[in-house]
Amino acid sequence: MVRMYDLIEKKKHGGVLTGEEIRGMVSGYVAGDIPDYQMSAMLMAICFQGMNAQETTDLTMAMVYSGDTADLSGIAGIKVDKHSTGGVGDKTSLVIGPIAASLGVKIAKMSGRGLGHTGGTLDKLESIPGLTTGIDKERFFKIVDEVGIAIIGQTGNMVPADKKLYALRDVTATVDSVPLIASSIMSKKLAAGSDAIVLDVKTGSGAFMKTLDDSITLAKEMVAIGTGAGRKCCALITDMDVPLGHAVGNSLEVAEAVRTLRGEGPADLTEVCLQLAANMLFMAGKGTVAECRALAEAVLADGRAVDVLAAMVKAQGGDPAYIYDTSRFPAAPFVRKVLSPADGYVTCIDAEGCGIAAAMLGAGRAKKEDAIDYSAGICLHKKYGDRLKKGDVLAELYASDEARFAGAEQKFLDSYTIGEAPAAEKKLVYARVTADGVERF
Ligand code: URA
Repeated sequence: MVRMYDLIEKKKHGGVLTGEEIRGMVSGYVAGDIPDYQMSAMLMAICFQGMNAQETTDLTMAMVYSGDTADLSGIAGIKVDKHSTGGVGDKTSLVIGPIAASLGVKIAKMSGRGLGHTGGTLDKLESIPGLTTGIDKERFFKIVDEVGIAIIGQTGNMVPADKKLYALRDVTATVDSVPLIASSIMSKKLAAGSDAIVLDVKTGSGAFMKTLDDSITLAKEMVAIGTGAGRKCCALITDMDVPLGHAVGNSLEVAEAVRTLRGEGPADLTEVCLQLAANMLFMAGKGTVAECRALAEAVLADGRAVDVLAAMVKAQGGDPAYIYDTSRFPAAPFVRKVLSPADGYVTCIDAEGCGIAAAMLGAGRAKKEDAIDYSAGICLHKKYGDRLKKGDVLAELYASDEARFAGAEQKFLDSYTIGEAPAAEKKLVYARVTADGVERF
């Protein structure tokens, strides 16, 4: 058995952990022999000292083999998975999964919960009454086969190492590290067994990777792990300087995803979804990226993927009526309008600040065991680049407890910068990373 104290000491001084040490550490932690406090210290040491490519691959594979892996070969067709590194207002999985599934691609997706200031697909889905993301392997396969898409958590015994580490990182400020993010995401993606993986690596103030260079480093690392494990893999680097779309908060985001599937979504969310969906379809062999984009556009134009999302919700025990009529989601009892303090233009909406404000309203967790308030969150009325008059409504904040507005409102307001001149145009997608290299846009 590894002596965790020695490993922490080694990593603290920038040492390189061997494959055997990493496997011993991961299995010891999953078995409960290594306590949270020692793993927290190790995670912090990794945040400061990093890991080389071999250590990151060893950590990923140790996490993959910490539990069961899925063999999707029984499901006909190319199975494509997608994962985002995490953002604010990022509901892309709920849009592009159904788009791709409606075009015959099989989506067997394992998602995560909110982490730090970012939201998680599982929390969003669980805002739909009755829906469960805790589905065993057999049922997961059956839903993917019959409906074309299922989105589940690390249920049963799949990647238990990530399940424990993810929850620990969320509350120990150890999220924003390339090896920890890469191993967390890629262990889930490899264990879930899809043939191809599209990664949405966020960059900017609301992302764990704040700079384009760091985001490209993370993307290259993940693509290398994926291709090294024999999967097709590519990454898009997408903007997370400002929240994506208008809704931040769980059921609010499900409703916005449905609007987007009907072709009525915000322009930024729609564009990012189309580019991600095009790459998923491309990986599934549906044509060139441009042809695949046209296929995805046609799906949004006729709204057919709403039926696919509703079918998935039903298969996972949820009530599909909430998808067909999102006004059924319970509204938060308290609404606070935040008004612009000045005339001008929105020149920044700090996505991280906005994500923290949403969490303070109840949409996220401060401690592992905290419950989520699904109706809490933010609806942005003014976005990056918009013109403002003093007193215009910047956003509406939603909460179940009025006292939550106290800190959250100021935090939210602080995330807006109002300038006198119009803001410069922003890119939504900065680069595409494949095994062949980096294509910057
Ligand atoms: N998403 C994950 O699944 N893991 C991370 O570490 C960050 C985002």
